[in-house]
Amino acid sequence: MAGSRKQTPDGMGDRLFAGMAAERRVLRELEAVFEAAGYRQVRTPGLEYLSVFESKAAYFPEEELYKLADAGGRLLAVRPDNTIPVVRLAATKLQGGGLPLKLYYEQNVFRRQPEHRGRHTETMQAGVECIGEAGFASDVEIIELAARSLAASYAGQFRIEIGHVGLYKELVRRLGLDEAARERIHSYVTSKNYAALEEALDDAADREAGALLLKLPGLFGAGEALDEAQALFAGAGEEIGQMLRYLKQVTSELSARGFGDQVMLDLGLVNQAEYYSSLVFRGYGESAGEPLLSGGRYDTLFRDFGEDLPATGFGINVDLLTEAALRAEEQGAGPAGSGEGDAGTRAEAKPLRVALTKGRLEKDFSDLMERAGYDVSPLREKGRRLLMPIPGAGIEIFLAKAPDVVTYVEHGVCDIGIVGKDTMLEQGGTYYEIMDLGIGGCRFALAAPKGSRVLCGEAPTSVATKYPEFAARHFERLGLDVRIIRIDGSVEIAPLLGLADAIVDIVETGTTLKENGLEVAGTIREISARLIVNVTGMKLRKAEIEAFAARLKAAGENG
Ligand code: PRP
Repeated sequence: MAGSRKQTPDGMGDRLFAGMAAERRVLRELEAVFEAAGYRQVRTPGLEYLSVFESKAAYFPEEELYKLADAGGRLLAVRPDNTIPVVRLAATKLQGGGLPLKLYYEQNVFRRQPEHRGRHTETMQAGVECIGEAGFASDVEIIELAARSLAASYAGQFRIEIGHVGLYKELVRRLGLDEAARERIHSYVTSKNYAALEEALDDAADREAGALLLKLPGLFGAGEALDEAQALFAGAGEEIGQMLRYLKQVTSELSARGFGDQVMLDLGLVNQAEYYSSLVFRGYGESAGEPLLSGGRYDTLFRDFGEDLPATGFGINVDLLTEAALRAEEQGAGPAGSGEGDAGTRAEAKPLRVALTKGRLEKDFSDLMERAGYDVSPLREKGRRLLMPIPGAGIEIFLAKAPDVVTYVEHGVCDIGIVGKDTMLEQGGTYYEIMDLGIGGCRFALAAPKGSRVLCGEAPTSVATKYPEFAARHFERLGLDVRIIRIDGSVEIAPLLGLADAIVDIVETGTTLKENGLEVAGTIREISARLIVNVTGMKLRKAEIEAFAARLKAAGENG
């Protein structure tokens, strides 16, 4: 379908006067920090030959690249990333210059995203690349520069979390998977889609490596995360021991330089671009639900351009900071900056916002909260209200449809979501899953009309379902060619009307199946409700969120 003349493509948009002024302010603040540290600005073209982004390491998923052809029919890509073009530039135009080369850029990147999920396909980035230096001092310096950049911009209270991509790479190596499976796992890990990751790891031969891989994302925070990791990885080999010790050294040094409150660990950190080789880091700020900054060391990337130079760098999402700057202007504040003092207290004072799935889970979750000692009368007597404060608890509950719960949590407008694993498996998304609430128990099942051949074990040829993504993955894993037909509700009717010969759906009591003449042909997996948390919220409000989860957990165990 041709796009409308009056609309901009999904994920892109115009920027007007106040927005432009705010963007310029953000860029000026960042430039001042970069230039004071000796970085000089460069610009690369918006289009590069596709081969620049394609190498052994397959840096970017095909489906995220915008591609076109030049007059000679050669394939071009709209740049999805700034580091690779800057490396190409350094390896060609700046060859033989003095090292280290310290370069910075301010230019947009383009990555395709699933439509209508509120994700940006065009993003303005400002970032630095420090080329030709390896080792401890340069690792510490680049993270210090990242912290200074966020402190000078509109991030508000912020955190930088550091990890070592070597941990992930080592575990994946032990899984011994083929390339396609490795790519799938990489995309689940980088998007924090643990529901799908868990499913994919079910097939892994090395169960121990799979179990460790699932534990990695939970290992973040201050020193205790490292202790936990050391215990978990004890006996996992000297190489991993070294990586953990190195992370400790880096965080101790940054703490000595005055960033003890801002720099934390995240051992599950794996960036989307696969060129990172060791230390990686990401920055989060109270002004945005998505990461503000992402970077790390990439010591092997230059080899693809015929050079052998160690390098490190980071990119900052200028659009998120621009939105924060606009909000700050409305409230009459400047770059909040320091990440200390009042910025901290402001974040703590906001209530925790919980998105709760409407319908069946509503009552079970209210009961659980009541057992945990919360006054849930606003939930029980809600009438038509959708946003309900829980008295004296610093918590607000918001009711939404299951897929929307995930969307709200991903975007950070809610800190916490209460949602079924069925929706998580279907929709994916980026968030932390921190707890099985033990409510909303049911199962995913394949069901078919009584007497049908599917009930005797024959594979269905067509399946109707509200969960097309999940069902497609399930049959693909079984190696079956099944036509999936998406239906939005009352799926049980589909086989009766002849639309499909079976359904994949959730079954709780089995009443709906029975009353419509269907029977379970096989259980696919058990389902229950989970507590999910926005990625930034988990970094900035960890103590409050964990306290809430712990109260629910205790109530669940006693109930
Ligand atoms: C779910 C599911 C089944 C039914 C199963 O539908 O899709 O239809 O519940 O429950 P049971 O085993 O206890 O009978 P839901 O009530 O969410 O409505 P929908 O089909 O309109 O989406």
